[in-house]
Amino acid sequence: MFQRINFYLICFGFGVSVLLILAGSRFTDNAVYRPGFESHRNIKNYMKTEKEELQVIPTILSSGLPDIDKILNKTKEKIKLELANYNFTYSGVRRLEDLTIETGGQPIRSIIISTWRSGTTFLGDILNAMPGNFYHYEPLLRYDIIQIRGPPHSKSAMSTIKNMLKCNFDNMEEYFDYGKEHLNQFTHNIRLWDHCKYKKELCFDSNFTSRLCKLFPFQSMKVVRIRLRLIRELLEDKELKFKVILMIRDPRGVMESRQHRDFCPPNPDCWNPELMCADMISDYVSASRLLKAYPDRLTVLRYEDLALNVNETVKELFKFLGLNMTPSVMKFLNSHTNKNVGGPSSTFRVSRDVPFKWKTALDYNHVEEIQMTCKEAMDLWGYEMAHNASHMNSKSFNPLKQYVIEE
Ligand SMILES: *[C@@H]1O[C@H](CO)[C@@H](O)[C@H](O)[C@H]1NC(C)=O
Ligand SMILES: *[C@@H]1O[C@H](CO)[C@@H](O)[C@H](O)[C@H]1NC(C)=O
Ligand SMILES: *[C@@H]1O[C@H](CO)[C@@H](O)[C@H](O)[C@H]1NC(C)=O
Ligand SMILES: *[C@@H]1O[C@H](CO)[C@@H](O)[C@H](O)[C@H]1NC(C)=O
Ligand SMILES: *[C@@H]1O[C@H](CO)[C@@H](O)[C@H](O)[C@H]1NC(C)=O
Repeated sequence: MFQRINFYLICFGFGVSVLLILAGSRFTDNAVYRPGFESHRNIKNYMKTEKEELQVIPTILSSGLPDIDKILNKTKEKIKLELANYNFTYSGVRRLEDLTIETGGQPIRSIIISTWRSGTTFLGDILNAMPGNFYHYEPLLRYDIIQIRGPPHSKSAMSTIKNMLKCNFDNMEEYFDYGKEHLNQFTHNIRLWDHCKYKKELCFDSNFTSRLCKLFPFQSMKVVRIRLRLIRELLEDKELKFKVILMIRDPRGVMESRQHRDFCPPNPDCWNPELMCADMISDYVSASRLLKAYPDRLTVLRYEDLALNVNETVKELFKFLGLNMTPSVMKFLNSHTNKNVGGPSSTFRVSRDVPFKWKTALDYNHVEEIQMTCKEAMDLWGYEMAHNASHMNSKSFNPLKQYVIEE
């Protein structure tokens, strides 16, 4: 009860101040909106982002509930506006409505399949720089730090992925229950979180999430907890059009990066190179089979190749996915290439040196151990062995070589 009264008071106070701040702007028709827990920062963010992107602020009805119809209407307008100059020919259709589920269309969907610390955050953010993209992030967070290779979890995990790609959030109680305790399940989906940050309950609302999702022409997902083999079942689903990006990284680089993550060490699927490299072999075999059966639905990408040549690689990738590069993507690429700023989880760090940091950060004994365990996986994916410490540290040592996916 107290919370409720408090809530109204805050709403009222905040609403008045917002009205004052925004007086004269076109947003004054939004009567009142829910303050976040960090009102000041939100206002600042709001003022900042408002210049770049049309921000949709949830409107609160007199009942205290958000006006969902209005949010959806405004989101639709926003997407339309942001894609006003988008050339839909690249996506194989004539107009926006051909790509939104709400209007009976099929979105351009992509799934990144990878494992922890393999560069998926960077790639995921590139795709999410597309306006009109709904980022499903990692739908399998609730399984914790495990790899799903088959039963007992494969069935529920696959059904979660499938439902989300179809924007069907019914019967997803476990997903929402986990999210209530772990908001990071939603925060990466910025175009969903834009609303939840003012009213968290919106993110736990399956009906709202489904309806919002269906407005977005581009849908991306990254999954680091499931192996490629299991994706075949989804590719066989005739109703579901999507493309897969399998992302691979040098196991020495992965293990180096995982050292800095405290979620990793106690969990064998994350901490044992033997398991990781067995997965790399399994992914190679699956990639080979899937490329044969579905040549235009799967592409493989090594993180190192992406980092060494971000622009060219992304251009190719967008072509494969059926996406036209927008100014917002160019801007993202411009600000994320060859810079070295930001904290440990910032993707601003991505540059040509990052993938090879392990050469100086790991001692040779550790590298040798990984190499012995991962010999076959490294060979398949084109990673060169370091023969000794001086070889490893020498300028002439190039850890990358050509690889082919043999059928
Ligand atoms: C949303 O848009 C539709 C069609 O443009 C309109 O009929 C409806 O009244 C709008 N709803 C709200 C709450 O603005
Ligand atoms: C859209 O792209 C197609 C294919 O590249 C091109 O032929 C067409 O002229 C473009 N349309 C516009 C309006 O730029
Ligand atoms: C959401 O709820 C409304 C009203 O209860 C219902 O008409 C609609 O079908 C639901 N939509 C979804 C996607 O569940
Ligand atoms: C990559 O592309 C962006 C956007 O076109 C550009 O601003 C940037 O300078 C390019 N970076 C490199 C390293 O070529
Ligand atoms: C280290 O490996 C390189 C390349 O195989 C080799 O030429 C060199 O002799 C080795 N050095 C030592 C100290 O074994």
